[in-house]
Amino acid sequence: MAVKTIEWRDDSVRMIDQRLLPSRETIRIYKDYRGVAEAIRTMVIRGAPAIGVAAAMGVALGLRGYAGARAKARFNVVAKALKATRPTAVNLAWAVDRMGRVLEANLSLDADRLFGRVRAEAIAIYKEDLEANHALGRFGAELLSDSSTVLTHCNAGALATAGYGTALGVVRAAKEAGKKIAVFADETRPFLQGSRLTAWELHKDKIPVTVIADNMAATVLRSGRIDCVIVGTDRTAANGDVANKIGTYPLAVMARRHKVPFYVAAPLSSIDLNCASGDQIPIEERSGLELTEFKGRQIAPKGVATFNPAFDVTPHELVTAIITERGVAFPPYKKSLKKLKERS
Ligand code: MRU
Repeated sequence: MAVKTIEWRDDSVRMIDQRLLPSRETIRIYKDYRGVAEAIRTMVIRGAPAIGVAAAMGVALGLRGYAGARAKARFNVVAKALKATRPTAVNLAWAVDRMGRVLEANLSLDADRLFGRVRAEAIAIYKEDLEANHALGRFGAELLSDSSTVLTHCNAGALATAGYGTALGVVRAAKEAGKKIAVFADETRPFLQGSRLTAWELHKDKIPVTVIADNMAATVLRSGRIDCVIVGTDRTAANGDVANKIGTYPLAVMARRHKVPFYVAAPLSSIDLNCASGDQIPIEERSGLELTEFKGRQIAPKGVATFNPAFDVTPHELVTAIITERGVAFPPYKKSLKKLKERS
């Protein structure tokens, strides 16, 4: 994709404002960690790996000009602010903690050299995510037949990562391998990551994409037009339970009902072995205004009660395989995920 999701340039962080897509391609520039935290919180940037990269870059910005004990104290403040933005995607805390370990190991450096070191680490996290997506894309592509139609949910594409995408990375790699690939994209209520973002980036790349409303998925699966479902994940537990955008769980149930494989594309940074099962994954609840208003216009009675969880957990029994950059994990996931993670 020509448009970059996030970029470190001239010691500032640039992001495309995903809230405005597909109508406008606006680049936001942040020079301060507070701006980065606000960008994550307000969904200028979203998607688990992308917010991990953003948080790492935010830490680097936050540490500029600090050294020694002052840098340590500053890190605590910056890390707290960044971690408080969104709770479900483990990539965010993972990236912040990794930056913290680099700081610990370099406390003897002066401020300039320390900034250079943490900046290099944030850029490394960006590059590693890009490489992981290409690698998992290649593994995933092998699971697809020469002519495949994939159903996906939310946006697990270039916009949700450093680039290329996880679920859409598999689609892109299959296309690059010469396979004939088409995608059905759930629109993904209420934030519309599917119709706004997935459709936008696939359309831009000339990969055939058909948008459906979420409640049409069962009909499409029943019609026999879908060869497999591929989704991303915000956090996958040690037992293979998968937290992903709300609406993923019903999709997995429907896929099982129609005997369609249900694949999860997950970089190892999204797999959290500290969570034994999905029950331990914190699920973000968002403002009810996302349900009662549409583009600022009231669409439900003012004052009506709402419930707006941003993610759900798909039980591991419904997951056919988990595609990582180190290979494909099959059940039992407790064993296969541990093996892949320990190699990393
Ligand atoms: O609320 P969002 O848009 O950040 O949710 C994103 C998702 O649920 C994605 O599917 C997930 O982060 C995987 S992205 C590779």
